[in-house]
Amino acid sequence: MRAFPALPDATVLAEPELLEAFRHDESHIVGCLPLAVVRPHGPAALRELVRLAKAEGFGLVPRGAGTGKAGGCIPTARTVVVDLSAWPGSLSVSPQDLSLQAPASALLREVKAAASEAGFFYPPDPNSWESCALGGTLATNAGGPNACKYGMTRHWVLGLDVLLADGEIHRFGIRSVKANAGPNLAQLFLGSEGIFGLILGATLRLTPKPRDYTTLLLPVKRWMDLLDLPGRLSAAGFLPSAFEFFDPAVLAELRAHGPEEARRLPGEALAILEFDERGCTSDDFLEALADLLGPVADGLEMASDARQREGIWAVRRITSAFLKERHPKKVSEDIVVPRSRLREFFERLEGTGIPAVSYGHLGDGNLHVNLLAASDTAPAALEAQLMTLFRLATELGGTLSGEHGIGLAKRDAFLALAEPGHIETLRALKRSLDPAGIFNPGKVI
Ligand code: MLT
Ligand code: ZN
Repeated sequence: MRAFPALPDATVLAEPELLEAFRHDESHIVGCLPLAVVRPHGPAALRELVRLAKAEGFGLVPRGAGTGKAGGCIPTARTVVVDLSAWPGSLSVSPQDLSLQAPASALLREVKAAASEAGFFYPPDPNSWESCALGGTLATNAGGPNACKYGMTRHWVLGLDVLLADGEIHRFGIRSVKANAGPNLAQLFLGSEGIFGLILGATLRLTPKPRDYTTLLLPVKRWMDLLDLPGRLSAAGFLPSAFEFFDPAVLAELRAHGPEEARRLPGEALAILEFDERGCTSDDFLEALADLLGPVADGLEMASDARQREGIWAVRRITSAFLKERHPKKVSEDIVVPRSRLREFFERLEGTGIPAVSYGHLGDGNLHVNLLAASDTAPAALEAQLMTLFRLATELGGTLSGEHGIGLAKRDAFLALAEPGHIETLRALKRSLDPAGIFNPGKVI
């Protein structure tokens, strides 16, 4: 193609030095230089872009704030980045419908703030929640600590506006959780990473804002003592709104080199346990919890006010960036293991000899297993280690990604490990919804 053409109602960037930044997200992958970056400002731009993509045979790679962890928004060969950061639309809350309408360009923190100002709560809270775009969280079905109680992004979406291969924007879903006229098509696009169409806006579900919080630091003398707790809490009817952990290696790094608040963190390993249901600050609740925890509760510390709670969460929130700063070439995974098999997972992981350290969302079995010295490992050996890790999670009834998605980073592993029928069904859907293959080519499948 000659110079990238001007488009109606869009900003087009085509200078190589401006395109360079779009080759990255927050994964370890570097993509191709895109043919151009298009910032659409309305439907006319998208209509023309889809027409051009089909005529010229290039792909369209959606991008929000570029905070993804799996390379989902990274350009592959012969693609144009569709930067949705300027997509128009405003946020509006409908208290009567317990819903919030927002464009893909809204930042997640703006969505959460709008819900909160109206007295409601929008729970999805990926680690990047202050900088990521809503559109990216929808395309990747983002998770976060609160998923432990509230589920993933997909559990909070009532409807979506999606650009399809006909070049038009279609609305799927209504402002009600009860909508059963045929299969729920909005759900098909959530977590699809833009391979079936581009998400431009959403109607989100809200819930009343929690009023009470109990935030606990739970240090343990023996790391393995933490591993049965998520299952024991669930079985006894406790539902934490977050249950995060640091294994001994991550905790030691934080203590030795982390920010001030991390220096005095106790234990060989440490969990952060939070409850947000009504009554969770009462003596009755806390006594029942301490009874269930038993001797593990010996070193329990409770945040006594909002400032202490913030301090605890600040350490958890910087963990990923902190480890990346210290180990710039690290590889971070986000496997899932069912709660009932966590102990077995860590015992078997140790048996593999893979030099892994872990932290993350213990309460729902979503573990950020990190290979800190990935750059010192030969590429083939690193790939073998990752496959061993993914196989182990899968064998135990889990999966290779709990929240970051497949993108480019885990595509080969996904294709190797998923049931052939699963991949074939996804490919049949892709052929039917995107016969020209213009939407995010080379990703996921
Ligand atoms: C987190 O929970 O900190 C992130 O999802 C992990 C990561 O950045 O790898
Ligand atoms: Zn995470």
